[in-house]
Amino acid sequence: MSKKTIVLILLVALVAICATQMLAQAPKPPDKVTLAQGVALGSVAFPHKAHVDGKVACTTCHHGAKPNKAGKSVAPKPFQKCVDCHTKTGTPEISKLQAAFHNPAASSGLCIDCHKKGGKAPTKCTQCHKKA
Ligand code: HEC
Ligand code: HEC
Ligand code: HEC
Ligand code: HEC
Repeated sequence: MSKKTIVLILLVALVAICATQMLAQAPKPPDKVTLAQGVALGSVAFPHKAHVDGKVACTTCHHGAKPNKAGKSVAPKPFQKCVDCHTKTGTPEISKLQAAFHNPAASSGLCIDCHKKGGKAPTKCTQCHKKA
């Protein structure tokens, strides 16, 4: 085998290893996520798969870097949990968990704005929040 061939084989092997590792690191989207756990009105069974199959871009919800309220850019890790930054009560820099989904009147927000476009998407409190 020539030196060139050996180098080529090693390169191909390296690329293959890297590709497998990247695939292993890409998290599998969950079919269903239970949100608002422990909320008095009831938890929300979010059909993640249905939203993804509907060709909604991942970045619609899993947003990229944003400036926080102090003007500092904050970049989530890929598919990092919302609650890691949007805590129950919020911080002076980052709005609270509820605000990541809807405003207090549930008249606008990430989920509601799209659902208001009509169809079968729920907009009423108890269509999303269901007591177990
Ligand atoms: C499209 C679905 C949807 C609709 C409609 C909706 N909610 Fe929510 N709501 C959520 C999700 C998802 C959360 C999750 C955030 C969390 O865990 O706090 C949430 C969080 C909340 C919280 C936060 C409680 C806490 O302590 O963090 C309250 C209160 C709430 N909703 C009340 C309402 C009310 C009142 C309405 C109707 C006027 C409503 N919601 C309509 C999905 C919905
Ligand atoms: C309509 C909004 C929405 C869209 C679109 C969406 N997701 Fe999600 N996804 C969520 C929410 C909400 C969660 C729950 C996050 C949490 O528990 O804090 C979640 C959770 C996840 C998780 C689990 C994270 C964890 O650590 O538990 C993965 C992985 C994920 N999504 C991948 C994807 C991929 C890949 C796509 C695009 C193909 C996508 N999501 C599109 C809203 C969405
Ligand atoms: C690494 C931290 C981080 C993670 C994780 C994160 N966010 Fe955010 N988010 C921010 C920052 C910073 C802002 C901008 C400041 C603000 O409005 O709170 C923001 C703003 C938002 C806003 C605009 C809020 C408003 O009041 O206009 C929405 C909606 C939102 N995030 C939804 C989500 C959802 C849904 C998830 C989980 C799928 C998530 N975020 C995960 C940091 C994060
Ligand atoms: C880009 C648009 C869009 C966004 C963003 C979106 N949804 Fe939806 N959602 C839909 C549509 C469209 C449907 C109706 C699907 C169908 O035809 O059954 C739906 C249906 C639902 C249903 C009812 C499922 C059923 O089985 O009846 C729930 C619950 C729901 N969404 C929760 C959420 C939550 C929570 C969020 C925010 C994290 C969210 N959605 C964000 C478009 C969206």
